[in-house]
Amino acid sequence: MIPLVKVAMPPRELLMPALEDVLYGGMLAEGEHVYRFESEFSKTFHLPLALATSSGTGALHIALLLAGTCPGDEVITTSMTAEPTNTVIMQCGATPVFADVDPETGNLDPGSVESLLSTRTRAIVVVHYAGFPADLTALRRIADQNGISLIEDAAHSLGARYADQGIGTIGDYAIFSLQAIKHMTTVDGGILTMRDASKATQARKLRWFGMAKGIPRTEVDIEYIGFKYNMSNVSAVIGLAQLESIGPLISRHIDNGRFFDKAIGAIPGLDINRIDPECQPSYWLYTVLSDNSQDIERCMAEIGVSASKLHRPNHYHTVFAPMRRPMQGVDTYYRRLTHIPCGWWVTDEDRERIVNALRKG
Ligand SMILES: Cc1ncc(COP(=O)(O)O)c(C=O)c1O
Repeated sequence: MIPLVKVAMPPRELLMPALEDVLYGGMLAEGEHVYRFESEFSKTFHLPLALATSSGTGALHIALLLAGTCPGDEVITTSMTAEPTNTVIMQCGATPVFADVDPETGNLDPGSVESLLSTRTRAIVVVHYAGFPADLTALRRIADQNGISLIEDAAHSLGARYADQGIGTIGDYAIFSLQAIKHMTTVDGGILTMRDASKATQARKLRWFGMAKGIPRTEVDIEYIGFKYNMSNVSAVIGLAQLESIGPLISRHIDNGRFFDKAIGAIPGLDINRIDPECQPSYWLYTVLSDNSQDIERCMAEIGVSASKLHRPNHYHTVFAPMRRPMQGVDTYYRRLTHIPCGWWVTDEDRERIVNALRKG
């Protein structure tokens, strides 16, 4: 079976010596390896800075707090995402306000976002779903005009670009997930980046109980509560090894994605995500849209390819029931979508086979 998602591990001969060094080196927790990983990550993806965390969820929690999210605030967000996007908003004591999505992309519809602004809106969280950048021009404008923060949840979209800028550089804050099945992994981990580097000190404290590193534990003072969201040297060593081949790996996702755009886009009865001119996706998953999504799953299963919907729109969960509102765009997109694999493990032959099977129906 060709899986929908797959763990990408660097070659054993590259990773194991480095891993062994750190495991037996006596410095397992946050240290030099983490700081080197942060520096290499920000260089690789042209980010103003990168703070490594224990998860994308932790990074997003910190981003919301840096944006000033307090109990009673509202955060405009999408339901078409993995659950952590919205559970962290509630962890801040704020209310997720679900805006509708564009049924042709699955990404936030700026018009819907604008219609939901209130005096309590603190931030907009935008997800670049499945690796497709959302309309950052419109969302940036809305955030600026209303004095609120734009937070990019780029968990799916490492290496994507928007208007020729790296994803994660247009929002005030952005996060990446380095969880097992993403473009790259540190087993679990995340990255937080931000436009205003003066907030980095606060961010570092928030990821470590509220304490500054480098000050003797007997002298350090906690002024506000932080969390245990730091990354370990062990994860960082895996991340450093991953970065050595991340360019070609993401390029292969993109090459497969563009192949499918052309080939699947030409099959009658099937649609592909609309790709706006500014949008350069990194195709974490490939999304096929059709009125018979179950037939696509069946057709793929027949040729040994795993295909499915991956996430449940978050407002279907009981915990988000009080925030439910009619969202035709989400309903349509979710009903029509099927994800098929398009990552580095999909060969030229695999992708031809997938397209031929879809053509036959
Ligand atoms: C859209 C989205 N946001 C946030 C997260 C949270 O990332 P992590 O699993 O690294 O905590 C995920 C993870 O799966 C995700 O898919």
